Amino acid sequence: MSDLAIETDGLVKVFGANRAVDGVDLRVPAGTVYGVLGPNGAGKTTAVKMLATLLRPDGGSARVFGRDVVRDADAVRDRVGFIGQYASVDEDLTGTENLVLLGRLIGFTRPAAKERAAQLLAAFGLAGAADRQVKNYSGGMRRRIDIAASLLNVPDLLFLDEPTTGLDPRSRNQVWDIVRAVVAQGTTVLLTTQYLDEADQLASRIAVIDHGRVIAEGTKGELKASVGSGSVHVRLREAAQRPDAERVLATELRALVQLDPDPVALTATVNGHGTDLGAAEQAARALAELARAGITVDNFALGQPSLDEVFLALTDGRDEGRKGTEA
Ligand SMILES: Nc1ncnc2c1ncn2[C@@H]1O[C@H](COP(=O)(O)OP(=O)(O)OP(=O)(O)O)[C@@H](O)[C@H]1O
Ligand SMILES: [Mg+2]
Repeated sequence: MSDLAIETDGLVKVFGANRAVDGVDLRVPAGTVYGVLGPNGAGKTTAVKMLATLLRPDGGSARVFGRDVVRDADAVRDRVGFIGQYASVDEDLTGTENLVLLGRLIGFTRPAAKERAAQLLAAFGLAGAADRQVKNYSGGMRRRIDIAASLLNVPDLLFLDEPTTGLDPRSRNQVWDIVRAVVAQGTTVLLTTQYLDEADQLASRIAVIDHGRVIAEGTKGELKASVGSGSVHVRLREAAQRPDAERVLATELRALVQLDPDPVALTATVNGHGTDLGAAEQAARALAELARAGITVDNFALGQPSLDEVFLALTDGRDEGRKGTEA
């Protein structure tokens, strides 16, 4: 028995001339949340659909709990649940009707389906909306009923494709709580997301994919460390001094400096290349250099790089090709 929920070797999917998934190797430990992070068109949905047996690979191989997704597709299907990026419940039915119908389809008796539906609606905070048509649900309620539908039978492996895209912060938090609860019951979750904070919140390991390839993989800590040992955030008194501050920081830290949307703020990574100074020491020297250059700094912080910074550093300068790969 393998303790890997998912194992892929050189997985490939080709659409015409577009290698949407271009040789992906993944190892997903059972019992964890694994994050697949990437921008629009990176190949996330395509990869997940192959693992969920909804799409046939064109190359390489994939096993789910040791079973091949092509040769043993039925065995795989018995153990996985898939919640797509685009919802699957029927708009015209109520919450209860949807769950009862889907429960009947997977073999529940009518009373058992009704009982399970009521349980799930209560657990997902939808009891009050149970008898309303799903088309009148908010986006967050809609996402919750989707997830509830996939948990009629609790699967051993649940694929969540961008579960919180378009939700407000409160609804996102509710979905995150649901994911945590599902994992606490022993289900492995593979989650795709474009949101770095979502992967940060939920996943124990993360694969970053871009143009159909894994460009980085590891724990959150490993990914952050691969980019730099620290991240310096500076707030200036005057926006006019920002170009000078950018130059000083770039020289002192020998790093890429990012200009924040806020016109007085900048962020730089401390990468430790070419120096044996610690991150805090390097940051302190950079701060002293800013003062020497007559730049007034109102606020200064040194922290771990965010996953956003990790992603920018990993994909830096590679955005050109993406336009041509969008369908
Ligand atoms: N059925 C299809 N036919 C042709 N091309 C497709 C098909 N599905 C996906 N593609 C292409 O494959 C590439 C990967 O798409 P995919 O949907 O897997 O990306 P994604 O990472 O899920 O993006 P998003 O974050 O926008 O959902 C894109 O270039 C897309 O246009
Ligand atoms: Mg997608």
